[in-house]
Amino acid sequence: MGKKLVTKIIHTGSSPEKNSGSINMPVYKNSTLIFNNYNTFLKAKKNKFDLPYYGRINTNTTSNLAKIISTLYKSKFTVLTSSGLSAITLTLKTFLKKNDEVLITENCYEPVFNFAQSELSKFGVKVRYFSNNCKNLENLIKKNTKLIYVESPGSLNYEVIDLKKISSLAKDRKIISIIDNTWSTFLGCNPLIYGFDVVIESATKYISGHSDNFLGIVTTKSKLMYDSIKKTTVRYGDFVSSESCYSAFNGLKTLKIRIENHSKNAFEIFNFLKSKKIVNNIKYLPDQGNKNYKLWKKYYSLSNGLITFSIIKKGLIEKFIDNLEVFKIGFSWGGYESLILPLNNLKPTKKLTTNNKYWFRIHVGLEDVSDLKKDLEKAMDIYEAQ
Ligand SMILES: Cc1ncc(COP(=O)(O)O)c(C=O)c1O
Repeated sequence: MGKKLVTKIIHTGSSPEKNSGSINMPVYKNSTLIFNNYNTFLKAKKNKFDLPYYGRINTNTTSNLAKIISTLYKSKFTVLTSSGLSAITLTLKTFLKKNDEVLITENCYEPVFNFAQSELSKFGVKVRYFSNNCKNLENLIKKNTKLIYVESPGSLNYEVIDLKKISSLAKDRKIISIIDNTWSTFLGCNPLIYGFDVVIESATKYISGHSDNFLGIVTTKSKLMYDSIKKTTVRYGDFVSSESCYSAFNGLKTLKIRIENHSKNAFEIFNFLKSKKIVNNIKYLPDQGNKNYKLWKKYYSLSNGLITFSIIKKGLIEKFIDNLEVFKIGFSWGGYESLILPLNNLKPTKKLTTNNKYWFRIHVGLEDVSDLKKDLEKAMDIYEAQ
């Protein structure tokens, strides 16, 4: 009987019958793995990615989590990496070589932009950026365009891209399509269904969910692509610990209820922000007035805790941000706690003009939402009274 995705999340990867009744996945901690005899050693050497060979390449725990992710994404093959960023950079490095061109969405996560500008260019790869409305995209495609890389929704401005449009254009032109799906996780959207070749997720965020872990996911239906990406990660010495995979395994079990609660709290905070006169811009996908709302609804079934907004300039912004008690200043969203981050841009290609406003991204956590509102209200009052 085909089980629903949420049931699969709870049970996939648990083998109590093999693990003395443990419902949880055992944590194998190995650098060296021992071979019974010469023949087993030779066999493992030939099948390094599938058989126990060396702890940096796989342990029982890391391969178990990779299999779980492949089941949840219905992808077949998954490479795990040391962080979300290394998942992106190592995948790009796998497919791009000197004189190739790559197209990247201009709303990508800033470290991806930095990698493209300084590292890819060093290897002789030409990078072009395109906007989420895909205007001009066809004109940007050249004979040597090898790859289209998309982040959707963008993690600061939540711009959404038409997934089918991108993947079919890429297929027509024999270009590899890759997407960073961190905003929604596999629960909110599976871009493989819409034809993407490779999906990347930073499991550091919602999957791990407790602000204590780094982990990257690269998943695909293609054995060829999997082999190439895995080879790159091995050659560069990228490493994933079993403990890290265990944290993600643990996080997965409560992913759905956590995301639902982040979303519920965020919706209330959105309504609160809307009611404040000093807030003059709000970027939030479940807002029906958001210009990405329709496209988001078409492809995504869940929201999350992210909201970006601006505050009218009225003196020292420290009076607002330093008077918050519950919202803490910090980067890595997706954990249980509420965060606020001052922004310089909403896309790395374009600095924000901050003459008349300050911009922030908040991640709405799992606290009682009345405390979150009170926190913002108090800090805004102090800011306005200065
Ligand atoms: C959209 C997106 N992708 C990738 C990353 C990188 O993830 P990590 O922090 O695990 O390297 C981030 C981190 O903020 C992100 O927001």
